[in-house]
Amino acid sequence: MKNIVLGSTGVKVPAIAVGCMRLNGIDAQARKRFIMSAVEQGMYFFDHADIYGGGICETLFGEAVGELSLPREKLFLQSKCGIVPGVMFDFSEKHIIESVEGSLRRLKTDHLDSLLLHRPDALIEPEEVASAFEKLEKEGKVRFFGVSNMHPMQIELIAGAVKQPLVADQLQFSPTNASMISAGFEVNMLTDGAVSRDGYVLDYCRLHHITVQAWSPYQYGFFEGVYLGNPKFEELNRVIGEIGEKYGVEDVAIVAAWILRHPAHMQMVTGTMNEKRLSAIAKGADITLTREEWYKIYLAAGHILP
Ligand SMILES: NC(=O)c1ccc[n+]([C@@H]2O[C@H](COP(=O)([O-])OP(=O)(O)OC[C@H]3O[C@@H](n4cnc5c(N)ncnc54)[C@H](OP(=O)(O)O)[C@@H]3O)[C@@H](O)[C@H]2O)c1
Repeated sequence: MKNIVLGSTGVKVPAIAVGCMRLNGIDAQARKRFIMSAVEQGMYFFDHADIYGGGICETLFGEAVGELSLPREKLFLQSKCGIVPGVMFDFSEKHIIESVEGSLRRLKTDHLDSLLLHRPDALIEPEEVASAFEKLEKEGKVRFFGVSNMHPMQIELIAGAVKQPLVADQLQFSPTNASMISAGFEVNMLTDGAVSRDGYVLDYCRLHHITVQAWSPYQYGFFEGVYLGNPKFEELNRVIGEIGEKYGVEDVAIVAAWILRHPAHMQMVTGTMNEKRLSAIAKGADITLTREEWYKIYLAAGHILP
């Protein structure tokens, strides 16, 4: 598995991370097989959140890893905090610390390799975040810190208060959800794509050595469904299929190759719970699309080049 360097840490991690949001959708045996197969293929980076399955996904992962006797040092465990579903976002020191302690209990580990603040909290007090990070780092409970779904100024606000570098920003990104790219093409135009929905976060992350982690790489909209094999995206599927044939891989691999081809050296966070699909996706990490192929996929998703 191809590696990328996580933010400014100098630590190499797999370019494909395994998202665990849907881990409660398969049974215990399948879960163990899935985790083992991911690790055997070099995908030892697992992305969690305190809220996935209301905490159940972390619990099930902890149990599976225990039964598999997988050594902790062979795994990179990331979790997120800050969402109280349907109620509020909470970046208070108390919430961050309690959330991490809950994740550690459920994952049956003494530390997280990284912790992301899941979604921006309007009532953020950056000093509280700084104090929480400081305690968690000092107690050895978290190695690295980052954010998710944040634009540059929100990152600046936190970066100005915390001592630790912010190493990742987890953002939705795929050929169909590519406004991070469109805004960079359609500069100063009156087109929809010209609208910066993220404050030009992609360039910001590149400039500041923050890894963009691409979530929901196969979903369109906000969890509206999978675009692969979907008649709503006929041209995109045709082009991806054609390029897949050239490289002798499945469509899912071409999407992975498209995300990883971007020179920001993104990390892709997959959500499949299917062993076979995960292996097919992994093949994308070995493919370097040509510039023309990358643009062809972008255009086939319905975006424009001015
Ligand atoms: N930071 C955030 O706000 C945020 C938000 C959402 C997600 N995430 C993270 O990102 C991870 C990935 O999100 P996601 O699960 O929405 O990602 P995804 O990889 O886009 O979607 C995976 C889902 O699509 C299904 N699927 C059906 N056909 C597929 C096909 N041809 N190719 C690929 N998948 C197909 C998969 O089913 P099978 O299992 O049967 O393959 C699975 O249920 C999550 O696990 C989580 O860790 C973060």
